[in-house]
Amino acid sequence: MNIEGEETRKPIRLIAAVCSDMGIGKNGQLPWCLPKEFQFFIDTITAVSAPGKKNLLVWGRISWFSCPETVFPLANCLNLVLSRKMSPVPPHAHYLCKDFGSVIHLASKPPLCHIVETIWVLGGPEVYKESLEHPWCDLIYLTDIMADFDCNVFFPKFDRNVFRKQKRFSGVPDEIHEEHGITFQFQVFKKEA
Ligand SMILES: NC(=O)c1ccc[n+]([C@@H]2O[C@H](COP(=O)([O-])OP(=O)(O)OC[C@H]3O[C@@H](n4cnc5c(N)ncnc54)[C@H](OP(=O)(O)O)[C@@H]3O)[C@@H](O)[C@H]2O)c1
Repeated sequence: MNIEGEETRKPIRLIAAVCSDMGIGKNGQLPWCLPKEFQFFIDTITAVSAPGKKNLLVWGRISWFSCPETVFPLANCLNLVLSRKMSPVPPHAHYLCKDFGSVIHLASKPPLCHIVETIWVLGGPEVYKESLEHPWCDLIYLTDIMADFDCNVFFPKFDRNVFRKQKRFSGVPDEIHEEHGITFQFQVFKKEA
């Protein structure tokens, strides 16, 4: 129950795919085309435990506009775009926030706290960094793309003694996949209490 003024804690989870040097993007786009990896991303962020529950997806402005419009609407999701200067809320999005604190406020207080299950942070680096430092952040889903790509945007460094790589994680295939000659593996890092 949410007593007025109190925050209902929501898990904050990051999801990204990184290549050998932790690169995630080049000139506003993904440097690779890996449909199976992208499908895992979609399946993960749209999964909820019960009908009526929603995940709150947090997108930096550039990541938002780089996502193909064909993926929308995303089942069980509310899309929130972060921007300090943009207005109004762009098509397909539900919310626009000027800072990460407002995201937490929105998700953890009525009415959204009654339906939001997970806050999924979808990048880029600035919001990844801020969310990694938040006490409610418990998991990082990081696909390891075992190849070199020329990138100009990188996943932030995080402490691997705090976020520990899980040998197995429920719902996450642990085998190595291959697409277009590129191998990749889904990984989950869990924050140790
Ligand atoms: N490989 C992956 O898994 C993955 C995941 C995500 C993104 N990417 C890639 O990463 C690149 C995008 O990253 P990027 O760093 O260029 O851009 P971005 O983080 O998507 O967007 C940056 C903009 O978002 C807004 N923003 C971000 N954090 C904010 C905050 N805490 N508070 C308020 N506003 C905030 C600001 O918008 P305003 O300028 O409007 O104020 C900022 O200029 C693309 O190449 C994309 O493909 C890759």
